[in-house]
Amino acid sequence: MSRFSEPQHPDFQRLNASIDFDRRLWPFDVAQSKAHARMLAAQGIIPAGDAQVLVEGLDAVARELDQGRFPFRDDDEDIHMAIERRLTEIVGPVGGRLHTARSRNDQVATDVAMYTRQAAEGAQQAVERVMEVLLARAEEHLDWPMPGYTHLQRAQPVYLGHHLLAYFWMLSRDRARFGFAAREAGRMPLGAGALAGVSFDTDRRMVAAELGFQEIAPNSLDAVSGRDFLLDYLGAAATCATHLSRLGAELVLWSSEEFRFCELPDAWSSGSSIMPQKKNPDAAELLRAKAPRIVAHLSAMHGVMHALPLTYNKDMQEDKEHLFDADDTLRLCLAAAAGMLAGVRFDAERLREAAGDEMIAATDIADLLVKHGMPFRQAHGVVAGLVRAAVESGRVLSQLTPQELAQHSDAFAGPEGARAYYEVLSQSSWLESKVSQGGTSLPRLREQLALARSVLDEAPGR
Ligand code: ARG
Repeated sequence: MSRFSEPQHPDFQRLNASIDFDRRLWPFDVAQSKAHARMLAAQGIIPAGDAQVLVEGLDAVARELDQGRFPFRDDDEDIHMAIERRLTEIVGPVGGRLHTARSRNDQVATDVAMYTRQAAEGAQQAVERVMEVLLARAEEHLDWPMPGYTHLQRAQPVYLGHHLLAYFWMLSRDRARFGFAAREAGRMPLGAGALAGVSFDTDRRMVAAELGFQEIAPNSLDAVSGRDFLLDYLGAAATCATHLSRLGAELVLWSSEEFRFCELPDAWSSGSSIMPQKKNPDAAELLRAKAPRIVAHLSAMHGVMHALPLTYNKDMQEDKEHLFDADDTLRLCLAAAAGMLAGVRFDAERLREAAGDEMIAATDIADLLVKHGMPFRQAHGVVAGLVRAAVESGRVLSQLTPQELAQHSDAFAGPEGARAYYEVLSQSSWLESKVSQGGTSLPRLREQLALARSVLDEAPGR
């Protein structure tokens, strides 16, 4: 029997169906159905023999799905109905007992939570792999001077190890965010029924334990209508992808002929169809461009959930494609980041040359004056005058004469003052002067490296 007097419009069927994308939930759907069937029997809700038949039938369905020989039908609306339909074809009417004390609403929420937890844990591991590579490359290039930038203008020199570790810390926070998302997805919705609970004495904790959930959702309405664990995952993915986009942008710049700071591995580069000399940083460019796509999934998911009345609404079927594509895209981006970082070759000479631009030491000259008691703002003005004098006469700072220096400030008068000035302009002192905690001087950098190593080893969230 059906309550409908006419068949569904074919376009409605196409709009309404989720089978084309939600079929990848099948391993979770089968696992939860098996756990559910066992629990129904353990609670005396269905006969133990029937549960046995259901579990074996579900295994048979899983084999078909796994081997790509599951006979999908045009009227399969979603993976939950397809599996139950096929189960019943295989085991007969007893298949109809599986959906006792369950609704597709708590069922789908449970599948999505299981998928999300797996995606978050997978991302955590992939992020960790990039962190490991960053740490190794930072160690290798710990004391290679390079220019640090603000506004993409040379600002102050830093060590390459310091720059690489900046990404390490971004990713360590991403890893923690994925850990949080995985924990949030660890509350089992199943057992909430359609929305109000079910009229059987089920044992939700038994099911949760079998499926690896830490807890059960305490409120049935919240259980079927909540997707904030998914927003947490997408938020972590969006931030992580944004971090990778900055790495990608730097690799694109650095590998350009203009910078020549590095050469990307061939395995992560492509050629041009017309210009034989070219080696294009496509993977790094795509790191830049994939980030907004993942951010869009987060934004779209907020749009889906925004102002939705409780509890389940069909709107929520839209959660899956955002989740799946964010997962697929982010995994590829993380693999590309690890691959490029592992194989990139840096050019010590080019980096050193760029870091040797004397203008980059202007702040240190100002600091020198401050150490002689001058207020920083005034020192800034004195050095600006020196820079201007050098630029206007086509010289670098170290080519200004002691007489000129003395004209700009009394602090430079006398052989001592001038000597300190020229000394500051010798390269390593600009880097080694940055002695503050978290700064670029080598002792601080070694401290930072040790801290990074311990953070990587402690593996939070697992
Ligand atoms: N395919 C649906 C989804 O993804 C399953 C839940 C359907 N529930 C319902 N009451 N129509 O959300």
